[in-house]
Amino acid sequence: MNPQNSASLDASFFDASPFDVSLSFADTRLVENQRWSTWPASTPTERGPLPRPDWVVASAAAVDTELGILKTGKEADVFLIERAVPGDATQRTLLAAKRYRDSDHRSFQRSSTYTEGRRTRNTRDTRALAKKSAHGREVAAAQWSFAEFAALSRMHELGAPVPYPVQVSGTEILMEFVGDGRTAAPRLAQVRADAVDLADLFAQIADIMRLFAGAGFAHGDLSAYNLLVHDGRVRVIDLPQIVDTVANPQGLDLLHRDCVNICDWFGRRRLERDPEELFGDLLAASFG
Ligand SMILES: Nc1ncnc2c1ncn2[C@@H]1O[C@H](COP(=O)(O)OP(=O)(O)OP(=O)(O)O)[C@@H](O)[C@H]1O
Ligand SMILES: [Mg+2]
Repeated sequence: MNPQNSASLDASFFDASPFDVSLSFADTRLVENQRWSTWPASTPTERGPLPRPDWVVASAAAVDTELGILKTGKEADVFLIERAVPGDATQRTLLAAKRYRDSDHRSFQRSSTYTEGRRTRNTRDTRALAKKSAHGREVAAAQWSFAEFAALSRMHELGAPVPYPVQVSGTEILMEFVGDGRTAAPRLAQVRADAVDLADLFAQIADIMRLFAGAGFAHGDLSAYNLLVHDGRVRVIDLPQIVDTVANPQGLDLLHRDCVNICDWFGRRRLERDPEELFGDLLAASFG
C-alpha cells in the first residue's frame, strides 16, 4: 500500500452516481488497505490474453482495495481485491490476488520435478537464485507467479474453464474472482455429494483433463482442492506446476497420478470410475 497516501478515503466516493464527474485523482485519498491500481504500470506481457473481458478495469484512476483473505495456503495466500474507479459504478470488479511467499515463508516446497529445464530471465537473477539472497528468494517466488500466469493464459486461450488471468506483477497474480458476491465458490472437496450430480461433475473434469492432454499438458496437482464448483460448472485453479507430458520425464507419471487422485475421490463418493481407462483416454488425446 502507498504510505504517503494513507489519509482517509471519503466513503461517499463509492456511492457517487456514475454521472458525477466532479471527482479527480487529487480528491482520492488512499487508506491502509488500498493502493493505486497496478494495471497502468504493467507491461503487455504482464497482462492477460486478448480479447480482454469487458469487466477488466484498465483505468489509471482505479484503486485496489484489499477486502480480506480468502485462503492462506502452503505456498501462497489468496486475497479478495476490489479494483474500482471511485465514483464510477460501471468500473468496479472483484479479483482474486494470489501472492506467492518467498521460500523462507513457505511450509512446503514443490519438488524440482516440476522445475526441470526452467530458465531464468537474466544472469543477475541466476546468480541471486544460486546465492539464495533476499533478492534470490524473491526471484524464486516470482518464478512461480509467472509460471502460473503463463499457464492460466495458455489454458484460457485453449478454452479451458480457468479464472481469467488479469495481470501478474512480481509475486502477485490478479485473476477473475470465482464466486457469488464476496463469497468464493466452494472447492469440489466441500460440495455435498447429495446436492450435486457427481457423474456430471466427473464428466466436466474429464473434459478439462482431455483439453490439457490434447495440448500436451497435465495439471500435475489435480485434486478436489484445486477444482471450484460455481453454478454447477467446474473451474480449475492452481496451475503453477502444469507439466509438459512429452518433454518432462515424469510427465506421464504425473498425468497418471492426476487420474488416480480424481477417480479415488469420486470412488469415495460411490461414483466408480476407472483411473486406467481415464489415463488411456488422455494418452489417446495427447498422442492420437
Ligand atoms: N480465482 C479464484 N476465485 C475464488 N477463489 C479462489 C480463486 N483462486 C483461489 N481461490 C481460493 O484460494 C484457495 C487457494 O488457491 P490455490 O489452490 O491456487 O493456492 P495454493 O497456495 O495452492 O493453496 P493450497 O495450498 O490450499 O492448495 C482455493 O482453494 C480457493 O478457495
Ligand atoms: Mg491449491
